[in-house]
Amino acid sequence: MYTDETWFQREMDTMFRPAWHFAGLASSVSEPGAFMTLRLLDEPLLIVRGDDGEVRAFRNSCRHRGAPVTDQPSGTCRGLRCPYHSWTYSLEGVLKHAPGLEGYGRDELAGLGKDLLQVPCGVREGLIFVHLGDPASAPTLDAYLGNYVSTVAAPHRTAEMVAVQEREYVLDSNWKLYVEVDMETLHTKHIHRGSIGEQPVTMSESEGNWIGVYHESPHTPALHPGERDRGFPHVEGLSGKAARGTHFSILLPGFFLVTAQDVMWWIHKIPDSATRTRVRVGYSFPASTLEREDFDEVSKHYYKRLNQVVEEDDWITEYQQKGLNASTPGCYVPEEHVVHRLDNWILDQVLHVG
Ligand code: FES
Ligand SMILES: [Fe+2]
Repeated sequence: MYTDETWFQREMDTMFRPAWHFAGLASSVSEPGAFMTLRLLDEPLLIVRGDDGEVRAFRNSCRHRGAPVTDQPSGTCRGLRCPYHSWTYSLEGVLKHAPGLEGYGRDELAGLGKDLLQVPCGVREGLIFVHLGDPASAPTLDAYLGNYVSTVAAPHRTAEMVAVQEREYVLDSNWKLYVEVDMETLHTKHIHRGSIGEQPVTMSESEGNWIGVYHESPHTPALHPGERDRGFPHVEGLSGKAARGTHFSILLPGFFLVTAQDVMWWIHKIPDSATRTRVRVGYSFPASTLEREDFDEVSKHYYKRLNQVVEEDDWITEYQQKGLNASTPGCYVPEEHVVHRLDNWILDQVLHVG
């Protein structure tokens, strides 16, 4: 299951295509005309906030002859103009101007059905999600997320968060290895000896397509042990467990989101093949923290700790992959019960059980 391309294709068909996927933060497209581009499941996407304030997602492919409408990672525009032959679309994706079709009036252009192709998109507590599968059989976003928003995102006020760093790279490992390592603490004292140390967690009560664990502590987990009382202040207005600790959640299949009292970060796993995984990493702080005079000085310590842990997990997942071609059956120990649950969820999806 970690090396076989036939199994991988079944995962794509039964889990990745039918899923809702994280695309970015609504705060990254905060004004009308703000846009960002990304690739998900090998499809180019364009996320734009319209003049009406709505966030929409489009296939980033011109309706003339298919060039990307833009290849800028992000920016702001008054309309969307394809660089090839300058076909132009409104922020809502409507074809407005089509060189080569000058004889066509506005209504005739509308009748061509050549507006940008929209994909289902929804925003919950500042998190943008898109759906790339068959819309006819898609679950609603709320049904997909279950109680994630009410249990984690809303109490942690994720809508306050602004992305400060984002990057993307590819690892030579199966995507499941990285999701598994996110969900167990057995490796922490071995792989993250100097960066995390011990971090006891309890399992969250999840309904819907997410699983999570919770670590209770008044101090941020996002600084090195010994520095943790030197973090930024907590986000104002946190409630319940969000005020007392950190949720580590997997929004299935591959979006790992950590919501702490002072910071939010994610490690998004999108498979390219059975043995290659695209990883999108992002760090975010509340807007009020970005305005602090000590932001640059203090945030450096966060980046150092967060980068170190990500690099340690990048390393161990690629290392683990090298042993998996041997097809040697393994096992879970009791401390890995969350991994066991995660892997059972994957089996249920792929084998259509449950
Ligand atoms: S391909 Fe976009 S205008 Fe021709
Ligand atoms: Fe780890």
